[in-house]
Amino acid sequence: MVNNNNNIPYFFITLTTYFSCAIIIAFGKLRHICSLFTNLQGYSTISEGHEHFIMQLYNRIEDCFERPICSSPDAWFDVVKRVANDNNKIQKRTKNVSRCLNLGSYNYLGFAAFDEYCSPRTIECLKIFSASTCSTRVDGGTITIHTELEEHVAKFVGKPAAIVFGMGYVTNSAVLPVLIGEGGLIISDSLNHSSIVNGARGSGATIRVFQHNKPSHLERVLRENIAEGQPQNHRRWTKIIVVVEGIYSMEGELCKLSEIVAICKKYKAYVYVDEAHSIGAVGKTGKGVCELFGIDTANVDIMMGTFTKSFGSCGGYIAGSKELIEYLKYTCPAHVYAISISPPAAQQIISAIKVLLGEDGSKRGAQKIARLRENSNFFRSELQKMGFDVLGDYDSPVMPIMLYNIAKLPAFSRECLKQNVAVVVVAFPATPLLLARARICISASHSNEDLIKALEVISRVGDLLGIKYLSTTPVEINTLGDSSHLS
Ligand SMILES: Cc1ncc(COP(=O)(O)O)c(C=O)c1O
Repeated sequence: MVNNNNNIPYFFITLTTYFSCAIIIAFGKLRHICSLFTNLQGYSTISEGHEHFIMQLYNRIEDCFERPICSSPDAWFDVVKRVANDNNKIQKRTKNVSRCLNLGSYNYLGFAAFDEYCSPRTIECLKIFSASTCSTRVDGGTITIHTELEEHVAKFVGKPAAIVFGMGYVTNSAVLPVLIGEGGLIISDSLNHSSIVNGARGSGATIRVFQHNKPSHLERVLRENIAEGQPQNHRRWTKIIVVVEGIYSMEGELCKLSEIVAICKKYKAYVYVDEAHSIGAVGKTGKGVCELFGIDTANVDIMMGTFTKSFGSCGGYIAGSKELIEYLKYTCPAHVYAISISPPAAQQIISAIKVLLGEDGSKRGAQKIARLRENSNFFRSELQKMGFDVLGDYDSPVMPIMLYNIAKLPAFSRECLKQNVAVVVVAFPATPLLLARARICISASHSNEDLIKALEVISRVGDLLGIKYLSTTPVEINTLGDSSHLS
């Protein structure tokens, strides 16, 4: 990630972060050495290397993660209170809950809570088909809902065909190894999601990384690697796939797709776009980054996405040419050997797509998309005005607020929770060590009052922790209408 803002005291933050990490590592190593003497059954320890460091780190801040929730992930949800009497190691659930403003779920369009169109249909589907098909797609696990879903997805994203899988993560990690192997070249954005990294590694193809969202560097990597050919024999690459994300999940940034598509065309490389966070969330009618940037979907060879964000369900998809989808149906282990997507989950997606396309007979879909954009742009502009260092682009509902120092991570999370605002905080290994952050996800179901409350709480916590790194003077929070010029 590149951030050249000179107001931010990088030197101080770097020093204090490294210092706090050094202490944690030193104590972790000490404890590890002691455990070798006390644990003498002849087994080597399961946790090794940096996993050990991660455990040392997260034990202390365990209360900020995996907080049990006992309601749907709507604008507000119920967070179960926990207690720990052993230095935070074991978090015990209590019977108490706090009603919190939800700034962490990927419920961008609000479909994950009760929906007047989707929920009754999903419940009806559960009654007819049950929760599971108990079979793979090629055996007894293809039901009418699955084929209907694939038709709807293909139509929605604007491709001739689509295939759906039970999990978004598996879609990337199981599809990439089928598309490419030894002799092939994957060129991956440096900040691509772990599912892409694992898929690329599992493929056996050569992997090269280009600087995050920097088309000029992509072109350099492409040119150099095409000139050199395969490392062992300098033969031509069997194929080249460039993998990017529509919206980067930890950065909130929109992909520079127009430039990337143009470069890929020039060098005859396939384009693979993961739209996990962008499908449904951006574009005039929610059709993702191609619609947002006015790019013909014919220019993107492999369109991947998940149903776990905007559609309020689970699973993932690949959309592409009929030939590609047929090939995946014969060869992809996640289709041939894994259980098919749960029927009610599939029905939920079909219903959400119908709402977005207005096929439910209402304008709710269009309103949700417009509302998400307004909410996101308002929230981002207010955070920036307050002096927070916010990553990402306008129109993106993902808003990382930079904390930098890992020590600020639990403090931010706990202080917000005390004021009934639930946030997600992210640090190493999901981000580089010095780039800890809170990641806000905005939803169309947030009301104006919700957003104002969230801004007030985050502002107070920001003052308390000294994380308004770009702050000049105190600002008053606008109402949503005041920043509507941004939407
Ligand atoms: C870019 C990206 N791709 C894939 C996934 C995996 O999707 P899922 O959570 O639906 O398994 C995620 C998860 O958030 C993601 O951010």
